[in-house]
Amino acid sequence: MTDDVVMDKEGKRIVLHGPEGFEAMRKAGRLAAETLDYIGPFVTPGVSTGRLDKLIEEFQRDRGGIPATLGYHGYPASSCISPNHVVNHGIPSDDKKLVEGDIVNIDVTVILDGWYGDSSRMYFVGGKIGVKARKLVDLTYRCMMAGIAQAKPGNHLGDIGHAIQTMAEAARCSVVRDFGGHGIGQVFHDAPHVDHYGKPGTGVELRPGMVFTVEPMINAGRHEVKILSDGWTTVTRDRSLSAQFEHQIGITEDGCEIFTLSPAGYTQPPYGDAA
Ligand code: MF3
Ligand code: CO
Ligand code: CO
Repeated sequence: MTDDVVMDKEGKRIVLHGPEGFEAMRKAGRLAAETLDYIGPFVTPGVSTGRLDKLIEEFQRDRGGIPATLGYHGYPASSCISPNHVVNHGIPSDDKKLVEGDIVNIDVTVILDGWYGDSSRMYFVGGKIGVKARKLVDLTYRCMMAGIAQAKPGNHLGDIGHAIQTMAEAARCSVVRDFGGHGIGQVFHDAPHVDHYGKPGTGVELRPGMVFTVEPMINAGRHEVKILSDGWTTVTRDRSLSAQFEHQIGITEDGCEIFTLSPAGYTQPPYGDAA
């Protein structure tokens, strides 16, 4: 069976997934979410991000999954682990140890039976998290969910971006412009591109079957970022803290389905006794 497509304004094809695609991404999304549930208890002061990456790879392979980032455009690891002022694409390393008080994003993408599941969450390292850091993490989670609340047929991508931007800027924080969410399915990064800022009623109109991520990066300071000399690690230009959450969603007849909800019921940190 071939999927329906619609064109975005640049003529890129946006796949409208059918029930088989939804069922496959339910499974891939669940494995991504299970990976994020699993890793929580290991996120403690002194752990290296390289060790977390190894655990993530092992967890996914043991369940029939393949870490999607490994070798993706030359990316060298099975996850992205981005502490503090790192915005995204932090490369895990045995030399990079997390310390008490860090906030850190862990972003995992798994391929299961040819379908992609992509999700990320913030974690607290230890129990002594500064009030500004905690507020930024809470704000970023609420921004993601406010964006997802706009994801329904007849709304436009700009409604999602606008909801996120409005909430972030009301808290005197800023939305990263240089990265966005993305269509996803049997490829990792597909049309449409999903800005986390924008104007209501603009951009692609949402239709049942569209599947994409909502993954806002919110900075405590200014929105500008720069990429370090490793070609991947993105940091805030002003070295302010940055946070991110990511869900993968599918547009349904009357709203959307989140494929990457935590089976353990976790939303944002702290994650109960386990973490
Ligand atoms: N998982 C990231 C996203 O949400 C992409 C990481 S690509 C990598 O789109 F190559 F940096 F790993
Ligand atoms: Co993504
Ligand atoms: Co991701």
